[in-house]
Amino acid sequence: PNNSRVFSLIQPTGKFHIGNYLGAIQSWKTLSETESPGTQYIFGIADLHAITTGVKPAGELRSNRHEAMAGILSCGLNPKKCILFHQSSVPEHAELHWYLTCLTSMGALNRMTQWKSKARQLGDDESDQLKFLEHTKAGLLCYPILQAADILIYRSTHVPVGDDQSQHLEMCRSVAINFNNSYKTNFFPIPQTLLTPSKKILSLRNPLKKMSKSDPDQSSCIYITDAPEVIAKKIRKATTDSVQGPVYFDPEARPGVSNLINILSGVTSQSIEQVVEDLAYVKDHKQFKDHVTDVLVTEFKQQRELFEELMKDGVYLEKVCHEGRDKAREIATKNIEEVRKLIGM
Ligand code: ADP
Ligand code: NA
Repeated sequence: PNNSRVFSLIQPTGKFHIGNYLGAIQSWKTLSETESPGTQYIFGIADLHAITTGVKPAGELRSNRHEAMAGILSCGLNPKKCILFHQSSVPEHAELHWYLTCLTSMGALNRMTQWKSKARQLGDDESDQLKFLEHTKAGLLCYPILQAADILIYRSTHVPVGDDQSQHLEMCRSVAINFNNSYKTNFFPIPQTLLTPSKKILSLRNPLKKMSKSDPDQSSCIYITDAPEVIAKKIRKATTDSVQGPVYFDPEARPGVSNLINILSGVTSQSIEQVVEDLAYVKDHKQFKDHVTDVLVTEFKQQRELFEELMKDGVYLEKVCHEGRDKAREIATKNIEEVRKLIGM
């Protein structure tokens, strides 16, 4: 989109897996390299969000932030074409978050399905719910307001997000409308979802679930920085099926095989049809898996090497973060001044 501001964050959870890559980071790269006059791209590491799920040792968070930035850069995000920064380095996010918190009802927060599903994990009866509320931190409940502040502090117009986030973006829109109505302004644009051709990648061992770093079976999850022999081992263990003969794409009947085809299509930017055509020579699952391994090892080679280099080059990483922070803050400080004026601060 021309003359727009595209915004997205990702949590610093350490290394990124191919689901994160094909579901988020790859589309950031594609977007920021598309010629679109007047459009600004702002992408960052959601380190403030990372502490909503509990206290971590400082060293762990610090190294996760570091790895996340190195991971984004190794995927080819170009700091000349987009702003790359750490959320916490722009304190205006937190300030706007407070103003928006004072405009948001507990009821609206309580209706968020991600919150509700967490609350239900303990059980459905009233005493279980009370126990949950007793121990759960307010930050987890207010998370969607911080997300709204992240987006609105830049007066963003477009947000590339997956389906799992669409309810949160809906909340962001209603917070923006609420602010505009409350302070009789149209300061905040109402941000739109930017649909990108991102893919949903499934767990290798249980292709009925999505690939996730929190999967207890770590062979279900391929990290973009995994060594070739690790990739080979995980692919060998991937669940397929007992259908003989050449592979074909049928997500319902053949979820495991189709997931691997989908991964091939994502990393090579080829259509599913093209990938299946290239696999016509395959006679059995072993040959298919060797093919998948070869493609992944080759496609991620450059990323893996760049990641390792970046992890050693703290000075460069720091420079990228500082430049990103300065550019982001320039926008954020201007906007927060307007917000303060509107509120009367
Ligand atoms: P995880 O499930 O591993 O904890 P996150 O929830 O931190 O991953 O997701 C970070 C980003 O990566 C989000 O944009 C999310 O939509 C995307 N993502 C995560 N897992 C997948 C997946 N299996 N397939 C596609 N996208 C994914
Ligand atoms: Na998740």
